[in-house]
Amino acid sequence: MTTTSSAPGKVYLFGEHAVVYGEPAVPCAIERRAHVTVSERDDDRLRVSAGDLSIDGFTVEYSGATDDAPDVDVPAPIVEAAMGYVDEAVEQARDAANAPGAGFDVEIDSEIPLGAGLGSSAAVVVAGIDAATRELGVHIDARELADRAYQVEHEVQDGQASRADTFCSAMGGAVRVEGDDCTTIGAPDLPFVVGYDGTSHDTGELVAGVGALREEFGFAADTVSAIGDLVRRGEAALADGDVETLGRLMDVNHGLLSALGVSARTLDNMVWAARDGGAVGAKLTGAGGGGSIVALDDGDGAETALSLTPDCEEAFRAELAEEGVRAE
Ligand code: PMV
Repeated sequence: MTTTSSAPGKVYLFGEHAVVYGEPAVPCAIERRAHVTVSERDDDRLRVSAGDLSIDGFTVEYSGATDDAPDVDVPAPIVEAAMGYVDEAVEQARDAANAPGAGFDVEIDSEIPLGAGLGSSAAVVVAGIDAATRELGVHIDARELADRAYQVEHEVQDGQASRADTFCSAMGGAVRVEGDDCTTIGAPDLPFVVGYDGTSHDTGELVAGVGALREEFGFAADTVSAIGDLVRRGEAALADGDVETLGRLMDVNHGLLSALGVSARTLDNMVWAARDGGAVGAKLTGAGGGGSIVALDDGDGAETALSLTPDCEEAFRAELAEEGVRAE
């Protein structure tokens, strides 16, 4: 048998980094999905092929058992990171289905660039656990899936993970995450535009950098709590469908993330290009350092301005994905 699931990537409307310190965050799922296809093997091995996991304009084509040394010419850390998530996702599926000896062929096909703040790893993990459990004849609901996917990220990222990405990818739509408290919230169909600089970042390193800043300069903690206040204000604007205020708050959020040292020249250039192109607001999304920005613009000015910006490798409009994980 063969089973395929898909799950969406996400952008942060507000609240990344501060969410690590217990403040709320609002990520939104976007219509860029990771598809994972699994078929059960008759031994206990795991064989993974992952075409089109693009990073730095580079395509990973890995095909090999995870317990063998990769025999392809791709940077080891990329293969290791991607395969670490798949290994742990399969482990969760084995546990959920009470099938410790199950082996799989796994094929990953993702439209979400890796390590770019767009939730690629969460989408692969959520879709992977869903496909592998269904392949074993077990159905787990989206909340349990989100929880198991969070355990995977927590494990692979050495404890540096919030529930935001995995919950958002499993449930779809806009969500609110504050500590262990995760809820779906209503949102209008926001006119997201994404700019991607073609690079990837190390989320763990960036999270650690904010921690170090807070330790050295106590007042950086005030910046983190200001982000929390902004998110609460943003939730009200979201409920009212007040896109103008959402945009202004995104601009403030970007400034506060800059103050925490997680922006980058490429991200700032893309943020300004989007604003100059007519976006009502723009900010970096995810851990920062490089990767992606998200803007709100219901015309095509921001997307055009981004595509003319040398630091922007790819600009695209991203619809809110109402549906989270789904069987394909
Ligand atoms: O860049 P991403 O998609 O890994 O997002 C990281 C978001 C942080 O708030 C910085 C960390 C987290 O786990 O919430």
